[in-house]
Amino acid sequence: MAPDRPVITVVVAMVVLLGLVYLATRPSGPMSPIGSETTSHGSPEESAPAVPATGEPDQLTVVDPSEVADLDEAELAYDGDLDVVVRYPVLPNAEPLTDFLDRTLTAGVQAFDAASPGAESYEAEWQITAANDDVVGVRMISLETDSEGTRECYSTYWYDTATGEAFESTRLFAGQEQLAEANGLVREGVPDAAEAGTIHPLGSLYDSVGFNPDGDLVVEFDAGQVAQAGEGRVHAVLGRDAAEPLLSEWGTRVRDAATVGVRSFAIDGPPEADTDGRAAPAPGHLSPVDENVDCSDPETKCVALTYDDGPGGGTPALLDTLAEYDARATFFVTGVPVMEDPLTVRRAYAEGHEIANHTHEHPDLTGLGAGGVRSELATVQALVYRETGYTPDLMRPPYGATDDNVASVTADMGLAQILWSIDTNDWKDRNASVVKGRALDGASDGAIILMHDIHDTSISASHDIIRELDSRGYTMVTVSQMLGTTEPGRTYVDGAPAPPQESPSPEEDA
Ligand code: NI
Repeated sequence: MAPDRPVITVVVAMVVLLGLVYLATRPSGPMSPIGSETTSHGSPEESAPAVPATGEPDQLTVVDPSEVADLDEAELAYDGDLDVVVRYPVLPNAEPLTDFLDRTLTAGVQAFDAASPGAESYEAEWQITAANDDVVGVRMISLETDSEGTRECYSTYWYDTATGEAFESTRLFAGQEQLAEANGLVREGVPDAAEAGTIHPLGSLYDSVGFNPDGDLVVEFDAGQVAQAGEGRVHAVLGRDAAEPLLSEWGTRVRDAATVGVRSFAIDGPPEADTDGRAAPAPGHLSPVDENVDCSDPETKCVALTYDDGPGGGTPALLDTLAEYDARATFFVTGVPVMEDPLTVRRAYAEGHEIANHTHEHPDLTGLGAGGVRSELATVQALVYRETGYTPDLMRPPYGATDDNVASVTADMGLAQILWSIDTNDWKDRNASVVKGRALDGASDGAIILMHDIHDTSISASHDIIRELDSRGYTMVTVSQMLGTTEPGRTYVDGAPAPPQESPSPEEDA
C-alpha cells in the first residue's frame, strides 16, 4: 500500500518529529454537514488511477459518500420526550451493521436521556471513514443538549463486510495491555497533568478511534470528557510507526483501508455469518472480578470493603491507599455525587474497583411504587454506563430497606441486592478510631463491611483498616469477586462459606 501514501503535510511531519504524539483542543464548532469535507477527485474515469485518501491530519479519513454504491440513510425511531434526530448510514448487503448501529445508537440516546435530568435534545449525523476491501468505518458526530448546554460527541464503529461483525473502536487495539500503552502515550501528550489524570484506557473514552489519511492513529474525546467542555473536541495523534505494535490484526486492516482513496465501493453480497462481535470482551471493558483471586479457596481470606453515598471529596485519597495495598473495594454510588464528580467514578472503575448502584436520590425504596424504584435505579445505571461503559450488576437499597416490590424491580433490571454483615455506623460516630475498631473487630472471611466515603473520619479510618487487613493476610476484593455470579433480585448479606441455598426453578415459581 506504500505507493498510495498521500502527500505528508508539514503539520504531520512536525508531529512525527515531535515524538509521535500530540494532543490538542479546538473550539467546538458547528457540526459539519455530510459530505462538506469531501473533495472531487477530478481523475480521468477511464484510467482510474489510485486516488489518495482524503482528510485532515488531525481528523479521521473522510470518504466521499457518493463513492459508496447505493448508500442510503435511516433515522432512528425514539420513543420518549427527548427531541431526537439521529441519522445513520445504510449500506446494501450490510444488514448486521444496520442492526448494530440501530441498537448501539438507541442505547446511547437512552442513556443520555436517563442520565441527564435536563436533557433537551440529541442530534447526530454520520460520516464514512473507511470503505475498502472488507472494511467499513462509520463515524458518528452527535450534539447532546441539556440544561448545561450543548456538547459535541464522537463515536466510531467498524464493520467486516465478509463476516458481518460490527466492532467498537477499542477492537483496533490488540488487547487491554496495548490500549493501556496507547493511553500512556496519549497522557504524555497532555500539557496539563490534571487533564492527563482524567484519561484512562476505557471503552467509554476510546469510543472514537481511527486513522488519518497517512495511517496515523487518531483518538478523539468528546467535549467536556477529559477537559472543560468549552475546549471542545480533544484529540491525540499517534504516529503510524508508534501505533503499529499496538494494533490488532483487525486494526491493521482498518488502517490499510483508511489510507487509500475510495472509488465505487460496493459490498458484493450478504455476509457469510452474523456473529455480531466476538465472545471475549473488547479492550477497555474491565471486569470487577480478578481471575487470579479465588475466594472459595480455603487458604484465601476475602473481605469486601464497601463505600456508600459517594463519591466524596476524600475518595481520591482512599483510591490512592487501595492502590498502595493492591486492594479492591465496591462503591455504591448515588446520582448527584456521580454528576458532580464523574472523573472519580471513572478512575475507581479503571483501577479495578466495582461500581454499584445506590439509587439517584437515596429514598426509602419501600415507600415507592415499581415505577419510582425503577426510575431511581435507571438514572444511576445510565450515569455509570455513560462514564465508564460498565453497567452495574449490584445495588444496595438505601437504609437496607427492601421488600417484594424492590426485589421484583431489581430482578427485572438484572441487579442483585447487597446488604452487609458489618455495620461500622460511621455516619453516626464520626470518630476514626471507633470506625476502625468496628471494622477490624468484625472482620472475618466473607465479611461485607459497610462504610461511607463521604465522611473524612471514614476515609481516615480506612487507611488504617486497609493496612491492618493487609497485614492480617486478608485479600480485599469487590463484592462480585466474593459472591461470584449473583442472582438478580436476591438479597445478600455476606460471602461467608455456607451450604448452597436452593433457589426455586422457574417451573416451581409459578
Ligand atoms: Ni446510603
